[in-house]
Amino acid sequence: MIEVRGLAKSFGNTKALTGVDLVVEPGTVHGLLGPNGAGKTTLVRILATLLRPDSGSAFINGVDVVARPNKARELIGLAGQYAAVDELLTGRENLEMVGRLYGLSRKEARVRATDALERLTLTDAANRPVKTYSGGMRRRLDLGASLVGRPMVLILDEPTTGLDPRTRAQLWDFITELVREGTTVLLTTQYLEEADILADRIMVLDHGRVIAEGTADELKARQGGDVVDVKAEDPAMLSKIAEMLTGIAGTPQIDERSGRVLVPVGDRRGVDVLTTVALTMSDHDIALDDLAIHRPSLDDVFLALTGHGAADVETEDSDSELDGVDSTPQNRRARRRAAKSAGKAA
Ligand SMILES: Nc1ncnc2c1ncn2[C@@H]1O[C@H](COP(=O)(O)OP(=O)(O)O)[C@@H](O)[C@H]1O
Ligand SMILES: [Mg+2]
Repeated sequence: MIEVRGLAKSFGNTKALTGVDLVVEPGTVHGLLGPNGAGKTTLVRILATLLRPDSGSAFINGVDVVARPNKARELIGLAGQYAAVDELLTGRENLEMVGRLYGLSRKEARVRATDALERLTLTDAANRPVKTYSGGMRRRLDLGASLVGRPMVLILDEPTTGLDPRTRAQLWDFITELVREGTTVLLTTQYLEEADILADRIMVLDHGRVIAEGTADELKARQGGDVVDVKAEDPAMLSKIAEMLTGIAGTPQIDERSGRVLVPVGDRRGVDVLTTVALTMSDHDIALDDLAIHRPSLDDVFLALTGHGAADVETEDSDSELDGVDSTPQNRRARRRAAKSAGKAA
């Protein structure tokens, strides 16, 4: 349904995409996972005919998006991180307007708007101006707008970044329902969990390059299963700690940014590794701030694949409120810790 070959795009000296290949089978969800600045939106915009590639080709259901953008646009719906809806119109008016832009009759636009509002549980708010909507409602309306044209391919660019967990779960259910009905979905995300739940296959992008491709399980296997996460009180001890923990399970990885050592449990039982780590630390009188075992996060997979954490990649909007990398639980924790220790020092 989607076929991309050797796609490249630069902005000045920034190589946003460097020869990306992608194949998405009909009726599946393909997750495009990567930190801020990885090139996800650039790929999405090329597929949505909003941007021309420097080289390479992209087809939607056999239609060349560069050569036949109008035809390609009939096949796709696009919804994104920043809901593009008119504040002053009501939810219903927004959807009907989109329907009219698709060339639907007034009647058909009304029918589809009603349908989309119902499916996204916005019926009660349908006749209120969008400026009274919450962030989650706007995002649902934006998704509704992308469905009015009944697209074969739905492209979602970070649809849940910045949403609360409940609204996020609702959107996940809804996306799953669309796929069951036959829609093909390309979804970009910064959350491994999201790709894990929704995506049949995942492509990991970093600096415009594909660094891994596979199912969620395959990616986690590359990381070595669960990780034991060791946060030392003294960050100067990180490499010593990594040395002490070498050989008990997977190769310890040092994450300088968050001051942690991560030990992939590999084939061993997580609790056994956790216990061994705790005993080893106590034997060496190493004071810990935190010791935990968790599923690999996007950060962990990134660390394993690239040697740098996802949030190390600087972008101009890296401190914005909606920025997903900054609002991962790990980073929120790291920020709280930093705030706490700053308080201690003062
Ligand atoms: N219109 C643009 N002009 C200049 N640089 C851009 C533009 N769009 C994207 N970039 C740069 O290209 C890179 C990839 O950006 P993007 O595709 O938005 O990444 P993502 O969506 O994964 O965060 C980044 O370094 C970004 O700053
Ligand atoms: Mg983006």
